[in-house]
Amino acid sequence: MTYRITTVCLGNICRSPMAEAVIRARVNDAGLADRVVVNSAGTDGWHIGEDADPRALATLRDAGYDLDHRGRQFVAAWHDPDHPNYGDLVLAMDSRNFATLIEMADEPAHHRVHMMRSFDPALAGIPDGDPRLDVPDPWYGGMQDFVDVLAMLERASAGLVAQLPGLMSRR
Ligand code: 4NP
Repeated sequence: MTYRITTVCLGNICRSPMAEAVIRARVNDAGLADRVVVNSAGTDGWHIGEDADPRALATLRDAGYDLDHRGRQFVAAWHDPDHPNYGDLVLAMDSRNFATLIEMADEPAHHRVHMMRSFDPALAGIPDGDPRLDVPDPWYGGMQDFVDVLAMLERASAGLVAQLPGLMSRR
């Protein structure tokens, strides 16, 4: 059965679509494309149906990533294993997204929710929910902030995909 990864930020137009594109590329590189699906959502609904932010798209394109995106909102029902948008692994971009995802889930669902950067080997040992694992929101920033976000996501994605076979076998 397919292993489902959902990346989550606030608006689903900057960080989580970028994370989705980078993880999908690394999953393809690892030869896992037929066993893993990656998608994204926001904890808020302001950008439902919209394309990703032009700065996120430009940063991805310049680094060789593809993305076809329509904004979605993560709602509590997605934590139900029978829901079509249920994810085996739900990756929060920052500590605020993490807290929102945990608040809307019953305790048995919590083990699926982690922070994206908890998979960066250089940050091992920092607990989920700790702001030191935040991917900073680039929405009010400039192009360099998007480039910095991409570098963080690339480090975390490499660590994540190295751990994927183990995660998939423990599901
Ligand atoms: P994201 O960034 O959570 O990385 O997609 C944001 C996008 C939009 C807004 C905030 C953050 N906004 O306020 O509309």
